[in-house]
Amino acid sequence: QSSSIYITLTIIGFFFTGVPGSMVVTWTTFNKTESKVEYSFLGGRHFEMTANGDATLFVDSGEEQRHMYIHRVTLTGLKPAAAYVYHCGSDKGWSDAFFFAALNDSTNFSPRFALYGDLGNENPQSLARLQKETQLGMYDAILHIGDFAYDMHEDNARIGDEFMRQIESIAAYVPYMTCPGNHEATYNFSNYRNRFTMPGQTESLWYSWNLGSAHIISFSTEVYFYLEFGLELLFKQYEWLKKDLEEANRPENRAVRPWIITMGHRPMYCSDDDQDDCTMFDSYVLHITTHKNVEFVSFTGVDLELWAHEHTYERLWPVYGYKVYNGSKEQPYVNPKAPVHIVTGSAGCREKTDMFNPNPKDWSAFRSTDYGYTRMQVVNTTHIYLEQVSDDQYGKVIDSIWVVKESHGFSAWF
Ligand SMILES: *[C@@H]1O[C@H](CO)[C@@H](O)[C@H](O)[C@H]1NC(C)=O
Ligand SMILES: *[C@@H]1O[C@H](CO)[C@@H](O)[C@H](O)[C@H]1NC(C)=O
Ligand SMILES: *[C@@H]1O[C@H](CO)[C@@H](O)[C@H](O)[C@H]1NC(C)=O
Ligand SMILES: *[C@@H]1O[C@H](CO)[C@@H](O)[C@H](O)[C@H]1NC(C)=O
Ligand SMILES: [Fe+2]
Repeated sequence: QSSSIYITLTIIGFFFTGVPGSMVVTWTTFNKTESKVEYSFLGGRHFEMTANGDATLFVDSGEEQRHMYIHRVTLTGLKPAAAYVYHCGSDKGWSDAFFFAALNDSTNFSPRFALYGDLGNENPQSLARLQKETQLGMYDAILHIGDFAYDMHEDNARIGDEFMRQIESIAAYVPYMTCPGNHEATYNFSNYRNRFTMPGQTESLWYSWNLGSAHIISFSTEVYFYLEFGLELLFKQYEWLKKDLEEANRPENRAVRPWIITMGHRPMYCSDDDQDDCTMFDSYVLHITTHKNVEFVSFTGVDLELWAHEHTYERLWPVYGYKVYNGSKEQPYVNPKAPVHIVTGSAGCREKTDMFNPNPKDWSAFRSTDYGYTRMQVVNTTHIYLEQVSDDQYGKVIDSIWVVKESHGFSAWF
């Protein structure tokens, strides 16, 4: 079974100092083997270089207690923007050969992303389009904003294995960056924590990284809901978030990476009608009365907040505290005076898409119940472009905006 391998490529360590990044390759085998990645420049002699790592045993908590080995190998010293070919495994069996481009570490770089949440093993409608576009080189990174596989732990975690094989055709080519959603909660998020490898030391639960002129923060909205797994996680994340935002907001940091973008699974505002979190024109996230309410992140000069969980696409006018703060009536996203929110959870899963409440509030700008995903390009320090792709309409772009900011930060809102 050692050739039963799936691969995800994630980034570790992109720092303000501009030190060229490194990538970590993560895969699974069902017997204990060595962990090697052989790689080379694309076009050169194949597999000239070797990197070694190690494997950790993951025992699923289902009744079969299935054992698997999660291998992690870090590639360092990669040449920015250079293309590489690699495979991974050991002398007991190798994966297919994949290619990737090391990320350009310049703050002038204009990274392109695909982003979505709620992609399942069954009915993953957008998957084919994402596989093709990723392999065509349309994206520098993917942001999967929670809810994987539906659910990774099911069938003694075989659904997790199957899902990882499904996304291998994306995640082996570009960094696949994640945050946890409610569908990962079973057994204390153990499938999520074990199968992914995000930056930092939090088992992928919360972290931040930089690309181009953006500082991207990923956090867990689930710490507000699954208190049985540890109230201390909520406080730990809060303290970390506060510090990370402070650091990103230091004038010397904000000068080079002015965009602060967050991603978290459950949105603050949404206008679905699904008898779930979103029945009161916002999400339970905003009703949680434990102190450390999640909207505090909006109050720290964050520019853009990306969410999923609702199986629809919704774009909001700039909003804070239920109030719209357009840049101007004619150009709401030019120098907006509050964060811009996007809810994009319609990639496709067995729960299908949700319905909208027919009478949205005034902060709701555009809504679609089509399956699809979002593209984003952080063009430069003043411009971000976002567009929504409808998979139902064969890839048609059904919505797009430019967010333009001449100055960033909390003070720019007044
Ligand atoms: C990285 O991107 C910047 C901005 O587009 C470009 O000027 C630079 O040449 C790129 N670096 C490499 C190594 O290609
Ligand atoms: C759940 O997992 C987190 C992350 O590893 C850990 O800090 C926490 O203690 C765990 N909670 C329980 C109840 O085991
Ligand atoms: C925000 O801008 C949009 C687009 O111009 C407009 O329809 C909406 O009424 C504005 N909202 C407020 C509260 O000004
Ligand atoms: C950023 O990109 C936009 C759109 O391409 C362009 O109009 C603008 O001049 C650029 N701004 C800077 C500071 O380069
Ligand atoms: Fe969800």
